[in-house]
Amino acid sequence: MSSYLISGGRKLYGHLNVQGSKNAVLPIIAASLLYEGVTVIRGCPDILDVWYMVEILTSIGCDIVWKEDELRIDASEIAFEHLSRECVGKMRSSILLLGAAIGRCRHVVLDYPGGCTIGKRPVDIHLKSLEKMGVHITEQDGVICCEAEGLTGAEIFLPYPSVGATENLMMAAVMADGVTWICNAAKEPEIVDLASFLEKMGVMIFGAGTERIGILGKCHLKHTEYRVMGDRIVAGTYLLAAAGAGGEIELSGVDVQSIRSLLHICETMGCQVRITDRGIGLKSTRRLFSVKDIHTRPFPGFPTDLQPQLMAVLAGARGESEIYEHIFENRFRTAEELGRMGADIQIKNNRAVIRGVERLSGCHVFAKDLRGGASLVIAGLMAEGDTIVENSIFVERGYQDICKDLTQLGADIKVINGK
Ligand code: EPZ
Repeated sequence: MSSYLISGGRKLYGHLNVQGSKNAVLPIIAASLLYEGVTVIRGCPDILDVWYMVEILTSIGCDIVWKEDELRIDASEIAFEHLSRECVGKMRSSILLLGAAIGRCRHVVLDYPGGCTIGKRPVDIHLKSLEKMGVHITEQDGVICCEAEGLTGAEIFLPYPSVGATENLMMAAVMADGVTWICNAAKEPEIVDLASFLEKMGVMIFGAGTERIGILGKCHLKHTEYRVMGDRIVAGTYLLAAAGAGGEIELSGVDVQSIRSLLHICETMGCQVRITDRGIGLKSTRRLFSVKDIHTRPFPGFPTDLQPQLMAVLAGARGESEIYEHIFENRFRTAEELGRMGADIQIKNNRAVIRGVERLSGCHVFAKDLRGGASLVIAGLMAEGDTIVENSIFVERGYQDICKDLTQLGADIKVINGK
């Protein structure tokens, strides 16, 4: 397994164009199954999770050509047999295929997507909602069997604004008779991007980005070419890297409104944030202030996917900070590794208290998940001396080339191949 070797203490300067969004492109790739022909997706990031999705679509009969950032998917002929544990276990986002596939294949079987290090990640909301559209679902020995003679539009209230369940329902609704209303829907920018893609495909869809989304089923679908949105979590990661390491950077290719909550926190920490005609600028020239009472929330609240990265930055701030994690039950694991670098972080239930220290010290740490790995990279940039972050594969699931990007901004970071 490869690792990152980071020589800390260097400030970040320069401009970077942000990659396409992992959490927008995955549901849009799944939605390409809705059209019995060719779909072209541009701005597709070269990340492991997209490779896994391409592997799965190829295994069910899609013909895919991936050239640079352009993905050409021919879904004319698909046979959605049993989606194996091997596939589903590798990437739990494969559950997103269910909504699109059940509209075309009538019979879909997939292994139960397991949890991951950040939480159990159940799919009960996905399944109960699809049942309201006429899908007959049985679960046995870890396998989910879905049968549907036809899908019927329904008014569905989500008990929690689940991003994935909202996306699955949007896709299933495209193939349903009548109108589907999704109430208490997720409002993330990635939902709006999926809706824009579906609209371009010919779907009549209303209210994306609000808590109530309406979709008219059985519209005539057509060949679509679409460019996905910039990755707001990658952008937020790099802004936090500059906040923690110091310096002045500018990012293009990301919608400012998609990370407003983070920009507010950066200003509270003492960074200067400016909106330029190229994108978002951040300047960090002194030791940051602590921040109390940070809560991760569904959009437009502070995103859970930036929580570990913010924790690393606050580990070096002046004073005591507080983060509450409300989305996932086990997303504070990086605190342990940050502690080995000298951070003073106390965890109690879903609350983390971070007492800032003057300086973190480089050492040998282990990434355990995607955003936790990114958090350790930021800590390495901030620390005195060298840091090795093991298991870079976790980071490569969501970051196209974090080494190249951070090197372009002046960091001293390289990939070293493990034993
Ligand atoms: C999406 O995951 C993102 N992944 C996650 O990003 C992100 O953290 C999450 O939304 C929240 O914003 C992709 O888009 C591929 P949820 P998803 O359904 O859809 C519970 C990253 O780092 N829940 O909104 O799985 C669930 O356990 C990843 O890029 C149920 O209880 O998130 C969790 O506590 C990590 N039952 C909460 O809802 C369900 O049926 C949020 O889950 C579904 C979810």
